[in-house]
Amino acid sequence: MFQERRFGLFVHWGLYALGGWHEQAQWRLDIPAQDYQEQMHRFRPDAFSASQWLDAVEEAGMEYLCFTTKHHDGFCLWDTQATDYKITRTPWGRDPLAELSRECARRNIALSLYYSCPDWHCPYSLNFGGDHQLPRPNPGDTPDLVKYMEYVRLQVRELCTNYGPLAQFFWDIPPGLQVPSFNEEIRRLQPGILINNRGFGPGDYATPERHVPEGGAFTRLTEACQSVGRRSWGYRKDEDYFSPGFLIRSMDRIFAMGGNYLLNVGPDATGTIPPQARQILRQVGEWYRRCREAVVLAKPAPGLVDNPEVMLTRRDSVLYAHLPQGAISTGFSLEPLAVQPLQATLLNTGDPLDASVELLPEFYQLGPCLVVRGLPLDKLADTAPVVKLEFAPGALEEAQGKGWTPQIL
Ligand code: GLC
Repeated sequence: MFQERRFGLFVHWGLYALGGWHEQAQWRLDIPAQDYQEQMHRFRPDAFSASQWLDAVEEAGMEYLCFTTKHHDGFCLWDTQATDYKITRTPWGRDPLAELSRECARRNIALSLYYSCPDWHCPYSLNFGGDHQLPRPNPGDTPDLVKYMEYVRLQVRELCTNYGPLAQFFWDIPPGLQVPSFNEEIRRLQPGILINNRGFGPGDYATPERHVPEGGAFTRLTEACQSVGRRSWGYRKDEDYFSPGFLIRSMDRIFAMGGNYLLNVGPDATGTIPPQARQILRQVGEWYRRCREAVVLAKPAPGLVDNPEVMLTRRDSVLYAHLPQGAISTGFSLEPLAVQPLQATLLNTGDPLDASVELLPEFYQLGPCLVVRGLPLDKLADTAPVVKLEFAPGALEEAQGKGWTPQIL
């Protein structure tokens, strides 16, 4: 399943949307806990619509949604019984997680839940200046690790019981504690769920954040995450948005390495995904929809060719050539592969491309190799080209027998 759902929407939403600065404003701006928490009495996101958020998911061609149920500020976005610091106690009073889980089920979109280990509200949580902890406990708090673990356990149990089937559980900020029973309980309540590596044990998948790791193919399940803007995950009034081309190229690298990609938006305090973010999702989605078969149906095939501009994925006798740095010229080569494909198609446009096996001047000693030509540079200016190369069944294996020596076939 993880391999078939490759692209998801990450949503950071909470009280911090009111300030419109950053999801960690309480800590980074040293806002007194009481002032920050009082914002809940002004939280009235009347424009929230699970169906509109899911429209954004579908427009982007995404297959899953990951929602922040509790960020570091401790404010709970579901109707938890563990605290009153929750969305159902705001003037708005609704349970967005219930609405989202229903809408996901209706549209066959998988649901993943984010839960932060640090907590700047729970009186039992530890706030002694550790990783993403407040520098000191809030007045009146009584930090107690055992009680806090009970609090987390109760909440995780609610999340895994009351909101239908969950595909993934995204812990955040590893607490530096090994408590295997947490993940065991999540698996007991949600058989088949995958759990990330930021919680109380190693988990099932890695979570590189805001960067593309080096290397040819991931050696363990991986879900990279990035936001549409560079400054914040939560809503930010003055966000500096990434160009769709930058995001597409990063995504393509991650996909070609076999990873999944979680792209984040921060809805504002009315519950609306900002129009700039929505526009980015549309543009990125157009690329994903057209090139999806090279991601979802194919597996990474690093080492088949020597050209570092090209990353390959493969499905049987089809190779997909990804150019994640963009089209830097009208043609590219796949040395030392010297097999003529039956057909070459630019997935971005659906147009056929020329492909031929010929001797290139720079490889005069190596011999002929496959060259693909006719990339329309004007149409590929802000994107990552992906070319589908269909070979006769068995032709690639035969080439290997005749001296094509890729590292892996
Ligand atoms: C980092 C940030 C946090 C954000 C997360 C998303 O851990 O501290 O605010 O939620 O990344 O992966």
